[in-house]
Amino acid sequence: MLTFQNVCVGYGGSDILKGLSLTVEEGSLTCIVGPNGAGKSTVLRTVSGLLKPRKGTVLFGNTPLNGATPRRILEMGILQVPQERSLFPQLSVLENIRLGGFILKDRKLVDARVEAVVERFPFIKDRARELAGSLSGGQQKLVEFARCFMLEPKLILLDEPSMGLDPQTFRQVFETVAEVHREGCTVLMVEQNTKSGLQIATHGIVMESGTLRLSGTNVEVLQNPAIGQLFLGGTLSMAK
Ligand SMILES: Nc1ncnc2c1ncn2[C@@H]1O[C@H](COP(=O)(O)OP(=O)(O)OP(=O)(O)O)[C@@H](O)[C@H]1O
Ligand SMILES: [Mg+2]
Repeated sequence: MLTFQNVCVGYGGSDILKGLSLTVEEGSLTCIVGPNGAGKSTVLRTVSGLLKPRKGTVLFGNTPLNGATPRRILEMGILQVPQERSLFPQLSVLENIRLGGFILKDRKLVDARVEAVVERFPFIKDRARELAGSLSGGQQKLVEFARCFMLEPKLILLDEPSMGLDPQTFRQVFETVAEVHREGCTVLMVEQNTKSGLQIATHGIVMESGTLRLSGTNVEVLQNPAIGQLFLGGTLSMAK
């Protein structure tokens, strides 16, 4: 569904992704792991069109994304939940959800989608009238995730959904992600919490220094000895 072919991309200086190739299969829940600064978020920003590859190709199905604007990429059904907070704190939860449909012109459709999101995610119903800024970080993450469903996502890009969450919210976020995946949505997730991330995933990708070090099914990646080193916080040194 999503393919990187030899992608080089940076922020104006030297390349951060250095000839990265990877694939995300349709219907998969693919989890990218790797040390801080490996380029994980850069991969997601490249997919969503915030960064343009200097070299190489990004394909969504057979469609090249290289020249597409972030808006066009949204219209294709690729939705990103960034690592940093992205709700409007002074607006209510419901208003934030509604804004997720900002590219839709038909007001009735927006109303119907808001209703569907409220039905689908009970935590939205519970908190609908509260200011987004008054929610905890984890609750805000759940709202950001639910907001994707204003636009019928085909591919959701999730950057470190578990960051800073207490164990209970952590479970709730992961269960919500797994459920959405079971219902047929393809998810590409970056996760610092390597083990939990790979356990709910179907596929894993290990990155280091802007390159791909390992990829495969979640079990293949989890069982690779290099992952043990990653857990211990060492650099990934891979046997060939
Ligand atoms: N806006 C930016 N401008 C310049 N350099 C950046 C920018 N964002 C990231 N970088 C650099 O790109 C490299 C990769 O960053 P990226 O955010 O993709 O890493 P990451 O794997 O997501 O790390 P983390 O686990 O800490 O989130 C880092 O060296 C970082 O300093
Ligand atoms: Mg990151």
